[in-house]
Amino acid sequence: MAVSPAFATKPPRLPEPLPLPDGSWAQIRPVRPEDRAALIAFHRSLSNKTVYLRYFSPVSVQWRTSPKRLAEELYADPEHHCTLVIERRAGGSGLRHLIGVGRLVVPNTAPDTADFAMAIRDDFQGMGLGTALLGALIEQARQAGLRAITAEILAENRSMLEICRRFGFELAFSGGGDPVEARLELSNAHSV
Ligand SMILES: CC(C)(COP(=O)(O)OP(=O)(O)OC[C@H]1O[C@@H](n2cnc3c(N)ncnc32)[C@H](O)[C@@H]1OP(=O)(O)O)[C@@H](O)C(=O)NCCC(=O)NCCS
Repeated sequence: MAVSPAFATKPPRLPEPLPLPDGSWAQIRPVRPEDRAALIAFHRSLSNKTVYLRYFSPVSVQWRTSPKRLAEELYADPEHHCTLVIERRAGGSGLRHLIGVGRLVVPNTAPDTADFAMAIRDDFQGMGLGTALLGALIEQARQAGLRAITAEILAENRSMLEICRRFGFELAFSGGGDPVEARLELSNAHSV
């Protein structure tokens, strides 16, 4: 079945803002061109461990914030890419910054499937945001008419594997240090 995903042509169905333990709020929304400075700050904030788990190698902050990489995240080709961010809003102070970024990429070779990847800022991990962001990416993929989403995940990445398990992903472990192949047929997705 030929599918032409159009992430930008439908109004996105997004979750309600999530309360954080410190009284601030986290809103998942599509990235916007004016997020450039906030996206650079997000990339600068990530620990080496988070960078390694996300990119499988210790890629530098210079590479992650290069004009080419930022353009890929900020000005996604709506036929093939979707970037969602998590914006944290702290009540009285008017502070807004990015604490999570997740992407879907539809390869030319498999136009009914998207690869996903995501990262949550270290000091906001373990608060349910990764689960919420993956849920929102699954919903985006469903709205775009895709059949499945996939990811390669390092075998040591216990929290990402656990989140995938809860949504109903099939996980193929091949061992020997190879990443785990995760795949979710969207018709089989669980609610989490
Ligand atoms: C992986 C990542 C996105 C998860 O986001 P998060 O906001 O920390 O995740 P959540 O808080 O929604 O959920 C984490 C769940 O994993 C579980 N978990 C954490 N460590 C675990 C472990 N060692 N074994 C099993 N489960 C574990 C937790 O129990 C938690 O679930 P619960 O609190 O609901 O019980 C985030 O930690 C991250 O950015 N990591 C670095 C980058 C990365 O790994 N990206 C993924 C590449 S695709």
